[in-house]
Amino acid sequence: MIRHELPTEAKQETFGDANLLPSVGLLALDRQYAVLREEIRGAIERVCDSGRFVLGPDVADLETDLSRELGVPHVISCASGSDALLLALMALGIGPGDEVVLPSYTFFATASAVTRLGAIPVFAEIDPATYLVDPADVARKIGPKCRAIVPVHLFGRTADMDALLPIARKAGVPVVEDAAQSILSTWHGRCSGALGDVGCFSFYPTKNLGGIGDGGFLTTTRDDIAAALKLLRVHGMEPRYYHQVIGINSRLDTIQAAVLRVKLRHLDDWTTSRQRNVARYLDLFARHGLEGLVVLPTDEPRGRHVWNQFVIRVPGGRRDALRGHLTTCKVGTEIYYPIPLHLQKCFEHLGWKKGDLPETELAAEETLALPIFPELTVDEQRTVVGRIAEFFGKAARGEPKPAATGSGHPSPTADGPHFLRRMNAVGRADEVRC
Ligand SMILES: Cc1ncc(COP(=O)(O)O)c(C=O)c1O
Repeated sequence: MIRHELPTEAKQETFGDANLLPSVGLLALDRQYAVLREEIRGAIERVCDSGRFVLGPDVADLETDLSRELGVPHVISCASGSDALLLALMALGIGPGDEVVLPSYTFFATASAVTRLGAIPVFAEIDPATYLVDPADVARKIGPKCRAIVPVHLFGRTADMDALLPIARKAGVPVVEDAAQSILSTWHGRCSGALGDVGCFSFYPTKNLGGIGDGGFLTTTRDDIAAALKLLRVHGMEPRYYHQVIGINSRLDTIQAAVLRVKLRHLDDWTTSRQRNVARYLDLFARHGLEGLVVLPTDEPRGRHVWNQFVIRVPGGRRDALRGHLTTCKVGTEIYYPIPLHLQKCFEHLGWKKGDLPETELAAEETLALPIFPELTVDEQRTVVGRIAEFFGKAARGEPKPAATGSGHPSPTADGPHFLRRMNAVGRADEVRC
């Protein structure tokens, strides 16, 4: 596991029993790079020397690595997570006038992939406790023109697939998992992306497995979809200059693949570090008596939550004031997402109005993402929570407990994802349940 020391020159300020740092970033990608610098540079140099810059053996090897790691037979890389969603819907034949049910509380690309094909996004409500799409509302929103549903495994937590898969099956529509934020998350021991008909992932630099630029990939257990995706990502061309269908140009750069192969080897450890950070936060929030003032995120008992984001809820209209205080104290935060998709200007023509999805709209007003990246130090976390306590006028009580131990994973199975089997083999017990 990778650890980082704080810069020694960091000026510290006392609050209660904690030493508060002068700043904490929302992300620190430079720390990850500092550890992997030589390996990453070596990988880039090797690609430059090879003169092969698009697809090629590195891309094929990355697809094989991911297939083994996620326990899914087909992995097809592409140029971004947004393209992955577009390609998935194209492979399923979604077109003009078709309806696709998806949450409004997600990144824009989930819906824009639908509209780019002339289809209509039908927005479903979220469960206010998890921020994930509410299966009951998905069922209500499925009409005769529905051709697919797209659950989003938001913030690193798998949507309720126990409920969603039967709903889709009953309606006779495929499930496209938007797993852009949830690489290595599981549901009853199976990885997200291997649960529905096709999974869509992003290598955007802030994701748990981020490239040094854009990139993405798709997963599927279905041979027919895999074949369609391989064709669609290269202009429907097979063989060269013979176009079987109209596809798009969405190939992964070789440099991205070479760098991502280096990073993939660390992803499981980084995920464990995120989980450790969650346990520390929960302890710190409790020590400061903040639990009644902010709503903390919960773990997923049916699978592995990979914590791409640690999102708290600040009720009572105080979210923006808290964010302002944290900004003043140089603590990085973000709002995912301030305007739900059904209220975006570009979707006005669809006729949605404020009040149509009250839980989604309230979440957009109350949620705040805090730093959760793997290399975050305990002093940085003390500072984040100390500053929040300062805002609410709360002092710390007692020293933080060490992070709890014990695996939060379902029992690894012989045919499960590779990382679960590897954990079993080495008898790891440093996962935390939060
Ligand atoms: C939920 C979700 N879907 C889709 C995407 C699109 O991925 P990309 O940025 O790689 O196009 C993202 C990335 O931000 C995302 O968070």
